[in-house]
Amino acid sequence: MAEAADDWREHSQFRKRGSPQEVSGYCQRRFETSRRLRRLHKSELAFARLLMDLIGPGRSILDVPCGPGRFYEVFSGAAEVTMVDYDPEALKVVQAAHGQDRRLRILQGDIACLPFSDGSFDLVFSMRLLHHVGDEALRRQVVAELARVSRRYVALSLYSKHTFRYMKRRLFGMRPSGNSVALGRFIAEARRMGLRLLRKYPAVSLIEQQRMLLFEKFEEIEKG
Ligand SMILES: C[S@@+](CC[C@H](N)C(=O)[O-])C[C@H]1O[C@@H](n2cnc3c(N)ncnc32)[C@H](O)[C@@H]1O
Repeated sequence: MAEAADDWREHSQFRKRGSPQEVSGYCQRRFETSRRLRRLHKSELAFARLLMDLIGPGRSILDVPCGPGRFYEVFSGAAEVTMVDYDPEALKVVQAAHGQDRRLRILQGDIACLPFSDGSFDLVFSMRLLHHVGDEALRRQVVAELARVSRRYVALSLYSKHTFRYMKRRLFGMRPSGNSVALGRFIAEARRMGLRLLRKYPAVSLIEQQRMLLFEKFEEIEKG
């Protein structure tokens, strides 16, 4: 697993970027570099707010990978927030900015092998990681791990193949960015792991590769 984690780490935007302040500045600027990234950032925040409304007050959230803590402000309304990332540099940024928050736990960890017992969090949130995972077995392992540590909800982002951006690149012989999946197949796979799709966000997206999905663990719900 360490090998795979190192492989993903290659994609990390925080490598060799310097002090927590430099990393934090870089991350903020990154989402300001184009209209598309600004739109994506806004849409991701809106998704996170929607999740907060859904889970209600007094709940616990795991944000993995948390990166430099882009979702801290939105999730800070929860009773407990745990932020996990593989990269200590990203965690230093979170620590420097929000370390004083006593409801916040900051931990280094590998998303494919999380250091938590089953059903530890009401919501498990994973933004912008799965499209870095090319290996299907590894992707399944990650989703299974997110499902395992969740008590009820799993929210994640991925890249969909059935989009204009993906098809255009394919058509013109260019390499599509990230690793994309067939959405229907992914949802069926998740269902076999005990995750039922509640919502796609945005509901329809024919151009942008990134989609956000909200799942609910159905075994737990059916047991009542
Ligand atoms: C594109 S960033 C996304 C960060 C955050 N979710 C966001 O949307 O701002 C990807 C993050 O995944 C982290 N990462 C890479 N491999 C990981 C692993 N095996 N376990 C946990 N985090 C990992 C990187 O360090 C990086 O912070």
